[in-house]
Amino acid sequence: MRKKSIAQSISLTATIILGAAVCLWAAVPPPPVNQNLFIYDTSFGNFTLADCHECHGTDATLAVTHHALLNSTPVPSCINASGTLPSTLATGCHILSPSSSGGFSIQDPTNCFNCHNQSPHHTTTFAAAQDCKHCHGAAVDNTNDGHYIPSYPMNTGAGGVTPGPVGRTVSNPANPATTIIVQGCAACHQASPSASPRPISDNQTLHHGTGIGQGDPGSIGTCQWCHGTGSNSFTIRGCEACHGVNSLHNIQYDSPASANLGTIIPGQENLGYGHIGNNWDCQGCHWSWTGTAASDTTTATVPAISSLSSKVVALGKAATLTINGNSFINDNTSGTTTYKPVVTLTNDGNTITLTPFSTTVSEVKVVLPTTLKQGVYDLRVDKTGTISNLAKLVVAPEVAIKTAVLSSQTLTITGAGFGSAPTAEFKKQLGVFINNTQARTISWSDNKIVATSPIFGGGKTVTVNTLFGPATSTIFAAGKKVR
Ligand code: HEC
Ligand code: HEC
Ligand code: HEC
Ligand code: HEC
Ligand code: HEC
Ligand code: HEC
Ligand code: HEC
Repeated sequence: MRKKSIAQSISLTATIILGAAVCLWAAVPPPPVNQNLFIYDTSFGNFTLADCHECHGTDATLAVTHHALLNSTPVPSCINASGTLPSTLATGCHILSPSSSGGFSIQDPTNCFNCHNQSPHHTTTFAAAQDCKHCHGAAVDNTNDGHYIPSYPMNTGAGGVTPGPVGRTVSNPANPATTIIVQGCAACHQASPSASPRPISDNQTLHHGTGIGQGDPGSIGTCQWCHGTGSNSFTIRGCEACHGVNSLHNIQYDSPASANLGTIIPGQENLGYGHIGNNWDCQGCHWSWTGTAASDTTTATVPAISSLSSKVVALGKAATLTINGNSFINDNTSGTTTYKPVVTLTNDGNTITLTPFSTTVSEVKVVLPTTLKQGVYDLRVDKTGTISNLAKLVVAPEVAIKTAVLSSQTLTITGAGFGSAPTAEFKKQLGVFINNTQARTISWSDNKIVATSPIFGGGKTVTVNTLFGPATSTIFAAGKKVR
C-alpha cells in the first residue's frame, strides 16, 4: 500500500538526460516518484555544471557559442564594469577583479552560475509564447492548442473521481496511525530532500522555481497561467491547461513486469512507474475509481529522450545515431495497435523524418543522411505526433589536417573544415599555434591556411584552433630531414 514516507528505497543505475550515474532517488511505490523520464524533479539551483554540459556540450563548444554573441548589435563589452550580474549582454560579460599577484583576474568563465543564476530556459521566446512543449515534449500540453479539458462538474471529495492539484489527506488503510495523500498529484509527486544525487522538490517549488509568473524583472507569465481564473482558481482545471487528460493518460515508463518486458502495455505493468501502467496508478489520481485500467484510452505514450550517442556529427559523413531514453514503443489499451517512433530533425523550419533501423522501448537507432547541412538541429522522437522532449544535434565540419609542409618559415597547411578566416575579435584564440605561441596567418580558407613563424620546425607539432575545434599535425620540412 501507499505510504507517506519512503518505505523502501531502490537503487537504480541509469543514464538520464542529466547524466547522473548512480541514483538513489526514489521508491516504488511512490512517493516520491522515480526519475526515469524527462527532467529530474529538482529546483534550478540544484542542477550542477555537469547537468548544463550534458545538455549544452563542452566548455570549448560553449566558448564558441558565447563568443559568437559578439556579433550582436550593439556589440557587447567583454568587460563587465556594471557591478550587476552578467546574465545579459547589456551589462558586458567578464568581471575583472584585482589579483593578489598584481594585475587583474577574470572571473571563472566556465562556471555557468556566475552569470546564469536563474533558469535561463523560462525567459526564452518559446516559454513566453506558452510553447512549453517545444522543450518539454508531449509530457505536457500547450495552453492554447485546443486540447480537451472536461467541462463536467469536478468532484474532488470522497466518492468523487476528480484529482486535486494536491489531493486529500486520509487515514492510511494499511496503517491507521498514519495518513496518506490520495486523489491528487501529491499522492505520488512529493518532495524528498534526502534523494540522491539531488533532492527532489515539491510541485510548488518546481513550478514557482522556474520564475514563471513570479514577477521578477525579465520574467514571463502570470499566476493565472497555472492557477486558472474565477471558480476554477486553484483547482485541477488550472493545471489541465498544461496537464490535459490525454497527456496525463500517456505518461508511462516500461516497468520490469516480466510478462511484457521491452514494451509498454497499459494496465499490465508493475505499479508505480507512471500513470497508466496499473490499476493502482489510476487510483493515485482517481481514488474512488472502480473501473479498471483496461478501460483507459491510452494511445501513444510520450517518448522521453535521455541521451544521444553523439551531440556533434561530421558534415557530409554517414553516421549512425543512437538515441537512449524510454517509452519509444507501446501498445494501446486493447493491444490492437503498436505505436512506433520516427525521428525528426528540424533546422530553419525544414523537417526531415528518419525511420529507425532498430527500435526497442529504450533505444532508437537511425542512419543520418550525408546530405544534412551544417547547423544546429532540433531532434525529437515522434510517435504519431506525440513528441518527445527536445534534444539538439550539431552538424559541423570535421576539422582535419591533411598536410603541414614547411618551406623557409612559411607553413602551408591543407585539410578540411577550417572555416572562414577568424574575425578580429577571435584572432587571439583562433589561428595556428606551436605550443601556445601563435604564428602570423598569411592566408586562411576552409581547406588551406598559410602561416609564418620563426619557431616553426620540422617534426614539431602544429595546432590549428578553428571555430569548430582544434586539429593537430606534425610539421614536414620540405627538402630537409626531419630530426
Ligand atoms: C535538460 C536539458 C537542459 C539542461 C540540464 C540545461 N539546459 Fe539550457 N537549454 C536546454 C534547451 C532544450 C534549450 C533551448 C535550446 C534552444 O532552443 O536553442 C536551452 C537553452 C538555454 C539557454 C538559452 C536561453 C535563450 O535565451 O535562448 C541558456 C542561457 C541555457 N540553456 C543555460 C543553461 C545552464 C546555465 C544550465 C545549467 C544550469 C542549463 N542550461 C541546463 C536544455 C537544457
Ligand atoms: C561571463 C558570463 C557567462 C558565463 C560564465 C556563462 N554564460 Fe551563457 N550567456 C551569457 C550571456 C550574457 C548570454 C547571452 C544572453 C542574452 O542573449 O541575453 C549567454 C547565452 C548563453 C546561451 C545561449 C546562446 C545563444 O546562442 O543564444 C547558452 C546555451 C548558454 N549561455 C549556456 C551557458 C552555459 C552552459 C554556461 C556554463 C558552462 C554558461 N552559459 C556560462 C553569459 C555567460
Ligand atoms: C527552452 C526550453 C524550455 C522551455 C521553452 C520551457 N522549459 Fe521548462 N524546463 C526546461 C529545462 C532545461 C528545465 C530544467 C532546468 C531548469 O529548471 O531551468 C525545465 C524545468 C521546468 C520545470 C521543473 C520540472 C522539473 O521536473 O524539474 C517546470 C515546472 C517547467 N520547466 C515549466 C515550464 C513551463 C510552464 C513552460 C512554458 C510556459 C516551460 N517550462 C518552457 C526547459 C524549458
Ligand atoms: C499514482 C502515482 C502518481 C500520481 C497520483 C501522479 N503521478 Fe505523475 N508520474 C508518476 C510516475 C511514477 C511518473 C514517472 C516518473 C519518472 O520516472 O520520471 C510520473 C510522471 C509525470 C510527469 C512526466 C514528467 C516527469 O517528471 O517524469 C508529469 C508531467 C506528471 N507525472 C504530472 C502529474 C500530475 C499533473 C499529476 C496530478 C494530476 C500526477 N502526475 C499524479 C506517478 C504519479
Ligand atoms: C508554472 C505554474 C505556476 C505558476 C505560474 C504559479 N504557480 Fe502557484 N503553484 C503551482 C503548483 C504546481 C503548486 C502546487 C500545487 C498546489 O498547491 O496547488 C502551486 C501552489 C501554490 C500555492 C499553494 C496552494 C495550496 O493549495 O497549498 C499558492 C498560494 C500559490 N501557488 C500561489 C501562486 C501565486 C500567487 C502565483 C503568481 C505570483 C503563482 N502561484 C504562480 C504552479 C504555479
Ligand atoms: C503552463 C503549463 C503548466 C501548468 C498550468 C502546470 N504545469 Fe505542472 N508541469 C509543467 C511542466 C512543463 C512540467 C515539467 C515536465 C517535465 O518534467 O519535463 C510540469 C511537471 C509537473 C509534475 C511532475 C513533476 C515534475 O515537476 O516534473 C506535476 C506533479 C505537476 N506538474 C503538477 C502541476 C499542478 C498540480 C498544476 C496546477 C496547480 C500544474 N502542474 C500546472 C507545466 C505546467
Ligand atoms: C496523473 C493523474 C491521472 C492518472 C494517474 C489517471 N488519470 Fe484519468 N483523469 C485524470 C484527470 C485530471 C481527468 C479529468 C478529470 C476532471 O477534470 O474532472 C481524468 C479523467 C478520466 C476519465 C474520464 C474521461 C474524460 O474524458 O473526462 C476516465 C475514464 C479516466 N480518467 C480513467 C483513467 C484510468 C483507467 C486510469 C489508469 C489507467 C487513469 N485515468 C489514470 C487524471 C489521471
